[in-house]
Amino acid sequence: MNYKESYKLSLEQPEEYWGKAADDIHWDKTWNRVLDDSNIPFYRWFTGGELNTCYNALDYHVDKGCGEQTALIYDSPVTDTCQSYTYSELRDEVALLAGALAKQGVVKGDRVIIYMPMIPQTAMAMLACARIGAIHSVVFGGFAANELATRIDDAKPKVILSASCGIEVNRVINYKPLLDDAIEQSRHKPEHCIIFQRPQGSCKLTNTRDLDWQEITKDASPVDCVPVEATHPLYILYTSGTTGQPKGVVRDHGGHAVVMKWSMKNIYNVDAGDVFWAASDVGWVVGHSYIVYAPLLKGCTTLMYEGKPVGTPDAGAFWRVISEHKVTVMFTAPTAFRAIKKEDPNGEYIKKYDLSKFRTLFLAGERCDPDTLHWAEDHLNVPVIDHWWQTETGWSIAANCMGIEAFPVKPGSPTKAVPGYDVQVLDADGNNLPAGEMGNIVVKLPLPPGCMTTLWESDERFLQTYLAAYEGYYLTGDAGYIDDDDYIYIMSRIDDVINVAGHRLSTGGMEEVLASHRDVAECAVTGVADSLKGQLPLGLVVLAAGVDRPHGDIVDELIQLVRDKIGSVASFKLVTVVNRLPKTRSGKILRSTMSKIADGEDYKIPATIDDPLILNEISESLLALGYPSNK
Ligand code: COA
Ligand code: AMP
Repeated sequence: MNYKESYKLSLEQPEEYWGKAADDIHWDKTWNRVLDDSNIPFYRWFTGGELNTCYNALDYHVDKGCGEQTALIYDSPVTDTCQSYTYSELRDEVALLAGALAKQGVVKGDRVIIYMPMIPQTAMAMLACARIGAIHSVVFGGFAANELATRIDDAKPKVILSASCGIEVNRVINYKPLLDDAIEQSRHKPEHCIIFQRPQGSCKLTNTRDLDWQEITKDASPVDCVPVEATHPLYILYTSGTTGQPKGVVRDHGGHAVVMKWSMKNIYNVDAGDVFWAASDVGWVVGHSYIVYAPLLKGCTTLMYEGKPVGTPDAGAFWRVISEHKVTVMFTAPTAFRAIKKEDPNGEYIKKYDLSKFRTLFLAGERCDPDTLHWAEDHLNVPVIDHWWQTETGWSIAANCMGIEAFPVKPGSPTKAVPGYDVQVLDADGNNLPAGEMGNIVVKLPLPPGCMTTLWESDERFLQTYLAAYEGYYLTGDAGYIDDDDYIYIMSRIDDVINVAGHRLSTGGMEEVLASHRDVAECAVTGVADSLKGQLPLGLVVLAAGVDRPHGDIVDELIQLVRDKIGSVASFKLVTVVNRLPKTRSGKILRSTMSKIADGEDYKIPATIDDPLILNEISESLLALGYPSNK
């Protein structure tokens, strides 16, 4: 089937299309219905079916005689370690950890938070939860204690799995104090914290709830996989929304397993035995889908890399990994390539390595700027494929599906809608827009398998956030257009979400933190363009009447406050004090106008502005901060 036929079939006969894909998965009990539409708009896939994702990712390969194949390679330049696990070894480790969790009383449906660095034990923890039907929620290690506390209160985990430390280039980040602080702040208290001790920085287990990972797994007995309903939640992954309260995206076992395996061949064109590397972090959706689940379900070798594109030790790090481990397909964010390009503009490091096994580079997480695309194409001599997706979908909405039919690349576009996604562009009134016209990008329901089923314990927020704007459609939150050849262009977000180094962050969340400072009367956070990270957050604050402390001190405190409350990953370093914020007459802060001023873009003075003169004041403050940076 070519792309056109495949796409058409997926939309017109989804049951036939995904039912066939599901044959590739081992089911303990076959489903009654491929697509269950009995409770619209809560569509469910493979209802009545039972399976276990961990079985399909590990035991299945061992049972069919591939136990000696390498399942996972851990490459860590920051600890000078390289270690690999066969499918049998990984299965055994996971079965033991699952046994240890079961011994602590973790049963099907219990939540387990995983707050860990990029080490194999993190993947083992996820798979161990899946093995016993527990629902994992991985929290990215770069988030501060306060963010972890919010997630603890929402997910209410019985157990938290963590490690003594993470390593950021040459800096040891002690996780245990952050974890203890988060539990101190949270209303919900886990029964146990299971801590993996790393030699780079061990920690004291002081609290009675703390358990030593290595000790409890030594005493545990391995357990088998528990078959669960296809609709049973596999995991919750929190992502940024418009407020500081993160949204707990819920993903099921059945649809997810089917689509993850399907995507490996159809989108990435990889087969069992190929070495697949997603250079992301397990704390993000890319890490869930393409470091852990999809490559293992497919029987590939997956790579976990604990390092950076540059500085560990140099801008040749990616090429070393590709060459040393014979990576065939790699997936990362454009920002990583911008970092490499900045240090090695002529690609000298690339020439030092044998990349003959490398076939395709996939990029996602943020808009891929044409400069980065061309640089990667020119220096790597392989197809460079931009694809568009979100935490909510868990896999790509638009891509150049290399295993179905490869199309010519158009710079700036992630190519066409992937089978299963009926992507449309609507205006504010819900009318379909003609080719080339910008509007809200939506997906007609039902979403294909593997996408979010709801928000954790918040069906109402799910409906309001994603389905209320246009009846029968999922609102992606992205704006853009589709051209005459059906190529999709993602241009911007329609909400208060910004994308910093491929990380999705809420400006609303940062505003809540700034507003909590005693000297701040009012504030706004908006995104400004950055040549390395894509965007950076910029804060503008109005001080409370009578505050006469030096502005520099307040600015330093605000930067530290965001670091403490959200985390270093927010990269919040730009903040300035202004006299007033520009607003409409109805009081809405004109954030996008301020972004445009900071970026040096043309802007129209909004007709509804309360006082146009404020924009001159804002321009002056931004100039003092160095923005627009080209002036
Ligand atoms: N634990 C603790 N701190 C972390 C962290 C983690 N897991 N990850 C990042 N941080 C910290 C960084 O050390 C940095 O701290 P600093 O401000 O004190 O220097 C801060 O958070 C910002 O991190 P980051 O935005 O990643 O910036 P960076 O300068 O360290 O690296 C890139 C920039 C481009 C090299 C890096 O972001 C990158 O490789 N990104 C591409 C891959 C990717 O992860 N994409 C995500 C989705 S696909
Ligand atoms: P996240 O949920 O963190 O994966 O972020 C998803 C958001 O990142 C999307 O809604 C887009 O705004 C942006 N994004 C992801 N991939 C792309 C891409 N290929 N092109 C443009 N924007 C992207």
